[in-house]
Amino acid sequence: MNLNDCYNFHDFRKLAQKKLPSPIFNYIDGAADDEITYCRNTSSFNEVDLVPNVLKGVENVDLSTTIFGKKLKLPIYCSPTAVQRLFHFEGERAVAKAADKFGTMFGVSSLATVSVEEIEVITSSPKMFQFYFHKDRGLNDHMLERAKEAKFDVLALTVDTITGGNRERDLRTGFKIPPELNIRGLMSFATKPVWGLNYLLKPKFELPHLQDFVDEGTSVVSSIGDYFSNMLDQSMNWKDAENLCKKWNGHFALKGIMSVEDAKKAIDIGCTGIILSNHGGRQLDGSRSPFDQLQEIVDAVGDKVDIICEGGIQRGTHVLKALSLGAKACAGGRLYLYALAASGQKGVERSLSLLKQELERDMKLMGCNSVTELNRKNLRFR
Ligand code: LAC
Repeated sequence: MNLNDCYNFHDFRKLAQKKLPSPIFNYIDGAADDEITYCRNTSSFNEVDLVPNVLKGVENVDLSTTIFGKKLKLPIYCSPTAVQRLFHFEGERAVAKAADKFGTMFGVSSLATVSVEEIEVITSSPKMFQFYFHKDRGLNDHMLERAKEAKFDVLALTVDTITGGNRERDLRTGFKIPPELNIRGLMSFATKPVWGLNYLLKPKFELPHLQDFVDEGTSVVSSIGDYFSNMLDQSMNWKDAENLCKKWNGHFALKGIMSVEDAKKAIDIGCTGIILSNHGGRQLDGSRSPFDQLQEIVDAVGDKVDIICEGGIQRGTHVLKALSLGAKACAGGRLYLYALAASGQKGVERSLSLLKQELERDMKLMGCNSVTELNRKNLRFR
């Protein structure tokens, strides 16, 4: 199997599994507890059917949408995800350049392995910086300033990682950052020698936004769960979020909002967007899927902020269903991460290209010329 054999999410996933050492593959692939929420994130789309219209003259389909005051050529963007250098030696550079090519947004994580300054130089499309609120306030100010200096368009504060999720696959495989070069680690690298050689010979694993302030994750090995539990500030509250929003003084989103109550508070503190997300099912298993929760949040605050549906998206039709319910855009992580692991920038470009083709085809089959035409009349709940 190679990249040209990949036609969908599952194909990229298989190729990623072939290329990555098992702890790293399972870090991407795994979720919390019994992974029920992770599965539900995708299966919830199957409880709604699309009702197409025909004879609409659909030779030119417009997939563009505007969020945070920026026009994206696709109604889906690449969510910020951590430590991409481990998945492919090109790391965040690959995803940033691919997203740029397709005219969509790309999110850079606080736990990214390429700096915001470098991302600024290599891309011109809209950019989001994902913010983890650390105990170390000096670090928080430092990251905010760097993202501002690098002209990031949106700051997204993640609010669903106040403690580490129970990711049992990571406990079993011993996944840590940086990967431990003990016997167990070396054995798992030996099974994937190409990855192992690239890990040793290509640019070094770094966490440029964090490493001057915290040792965990670079000079001190840590699991992701321990990083969340020990480094992030569990006292974080609405006042802190409001202060951050004020300091940023630009487009601001909370990532990981799931209730109407919180969506309303997000508006009160000055958010211009809300990202419905359960962190890819990696935090609270048993929590609702973003798509299931979308309608009530759109009904409550959809006229006041941009609502983004993140999680479980594998197909163009999933995006069309979320947009029909009132989301302004969708976002995904694994959606492009398997492709990154499979083939770096080329892989991400193929995944975005397939998704674009799927969206165009699905829009034509739905009888829609523009994503703004999608509405609830296009849907029937089972
Ligand atoms: C995760 C973080 C780091 O879910 O976003 O692993």
